[in-house]
Amino acid sequence: MPIIFCRRSFISLALLLGFSTQAHAGDPAEGATVYYEHGCYSCHGYNGTGRTPLANNVSGIMVDEGVFIRFLRQRADRNPILPNNSMPNFGVEALSDEQAKDVYAYIKTLVDDPPEIEEIPTFVKILDAAKANGPDNARSN
Ligand code: HEC
Repeated sequence: MPIIFCRRSFISLALLLGFSTQAHAGDPAEGATVYYEHGCYSCHGYNGTGRTPLANNVSGIMVDEGVFIRFLRQRADRNPILPNNSMPNFGVEALSDEQAKDVYAYIKTLVDDPPEIEEIPTFVKILDAAKANGPDNARSN
């Protein structure tokens, strides 16, 4: 059946081309913009060290782009009636696959590496002032 063969080949070719034109390497710089414009930072912190931390590659969801994108897309489907989560669903109309790949690449760059206390002059001054006041000077009321 040459016709079926041709049709199959055509479909395979179309799928192949479709996939290859959709291939997009995530760009962390673009992803930073997505992270801020879509409000990810409001729950996950400016550098991924917020309430639900993402920095230092701690999330299993970040294992690969595909898992991450499905996580973004299927949140509403998983808990449609009584969601036990507070992260919104990000459908393709809100966040394209390209944007999702960009933000994925950006999250991969996030590092939680706070400075030592001694490296923060203002904090050192506060500690010194507290020590100078000492427990003897603590207010009794
Ligand atoms: C309103 C708060 C909120 C916003 C906005 C938000 N998230 Fe989340 N996110 C959460 C919460 C809460 C969790 C963990 C619990 C859950 O799954 O609901 C989570 C989990 C995650 C995880 C998995 C973390 C883990 O523990 O494995 C990733 C990755 C993630 N969010 C990425 C994003 C990205 C990217 C955006 C922006 C496009 C975003 N989040 C916006 C609240 C938020």
